Amino acid sequence: MTHAHITTWVVALILFVVAIVLQSKGHEKTKTLHMLLRLFYVFIIATGAWILHSMSSFPFLYIIKVIVGIWVIGTMEMILVRTAKGKNTNILWLQFFVAFVVALYLGFKLPFGFSFFS
Ligand code: HEM
Repeated sequence: MTHAHITTWVVALILFVVAIVLQSKGHEKTKTLHMLLRLFYVFIIATGAWILHSMSSFPFLYIIKVIVGIWVIGTMEMILVRTAKGKNTNILWLQFFVAFVVALYLGFKLPFGFSFFS
């Protein structure tokens, strides 16, 4: 099930990058892609919740992992919305990279699935 979780956020990341590129070109398909990306936000949360569902207790790092995961999703959404409105997104990009690295680190450190950092 961690593989399903990884698949959903990798697909979301690809959709996000493609949406950013299309948006910068003013492409009409950006809206459709953004909607699809939103569907993948749901899949990321659902697969994360699915992993949590199999657990009997929630150690502190898991709570941080969930918050950081939702933070990554929040920054992706806000970057796309604010870019569409022509607003500055520098701080959001910084948050996105920090949150993404922390989510990867925590995910791969925690015991389910791959544990590269423990
Ligand atoms: C885009 C955002 C996210 C990224 C990049 C991300 C990344 C990861 C990674 C790399 C893993 C490790 C998988 C493995 O070891 O096989 C993982 C595991 C996990 N993620 Fe996420 N995640 C995100 C969002 C979320 C959300 C929103 C939730 C909660 C609803 C969540 C809950 C979990 C849980 C519970 C695990 C298992 C931790 C463990 O290995 O013990 N994640 N995630």
